[in-house]
Amino acid sequence: MFPQTLLLLFLSATASIATVVKPKPKPPLKPYLLHTLTTFSPSGRPGSSPWSLVNLTFSDLEFNNNVTCGAKYTWEDPLWNNVTECAHTPTTKDKYTKYSFQMLKPTASGEGASLLNNFMLHLRHDAEKGVYVATQRFNFDSDRNIGGLCSASGVCSFGLREEVRPYYIHQTKLER
Ligand SMILES: *[C@@H]1O[C@H](CO)[C@@H](O)[C@H](O)[C@H]1NC(C)=O
Ligand SMILES: *[C@@H]1O[C@H](CO)[C@@H](O)[C@H](O)[C@H]1NC(C)=O
Ligand SMILES: *[C@@H]1O[C@H](CO)[C@@H](O)[C@H](O)[C@H]1NC(C)=O
Repeated sequence: MFPQTLLLLFLSATASIATVVKPKPKPPLKPYLLHTLTTFSPSGRPGSSPWSLVNLTFSDLEFNNNVTCGAKYTWEDPLWNNVTECAHTPTTKDKYTKYSFQMLKPTASGEGASLLNNFMLHLRHDAEKGVYVATQRFNFDSDRNIGGLCSASGVCSFGLREEVRPYYIHQTKLER
């Protein structure tokens, strides 16, 4: 055979292999867009409310849902690892769509962990198509995506820093 013919055969062979073997790249999932994230703890003075709070709102751009989450806890019963269900709009009443969040300690030792300003936020979306998760660290000192203060009275209030809003959090689909 002529070299040209061989080359053509080779090219068409590689082309067909490529179309068979190469999986179609999936477009990346659209992120979560965190609008607000606030934490609060009371002064602990006699007569003051015992409740500490975590509140957040985000949009799930992949599914076009807006999600509102909130949890309260006390120092005796902290929120670490508890799964808290969120509310979402538009409200779908199917048995799948559910958003929840967890506050996780940022390191294995838990040293320096704080439900106010040093934690991992873990978001989970149970959907008909599967389970989607996202995790992001929020931290006052190093990541500096959280700002705020504790006042002299002992009341602490922190939140997503204005400069980083809205905050993009990459989500992934869990493989089953
Ligand atoms: C979600 O919120 C964004 C901005 O707050 C708004 O533009 C959008 O219309 C809302 N989407 C739904 C589905 O409610
Ligand atoms: C924050 O979360 C708490 C506890 O779920 C809830 O009672 C409160 O209404 C929330 N606040 C806001 C501003 O969403
Ligand atoms: C966390 O979950 C445990 C076990 O279900 C429960 O006893 C505790 O009251 C929960 N704490 C909060 C702050 O939700």
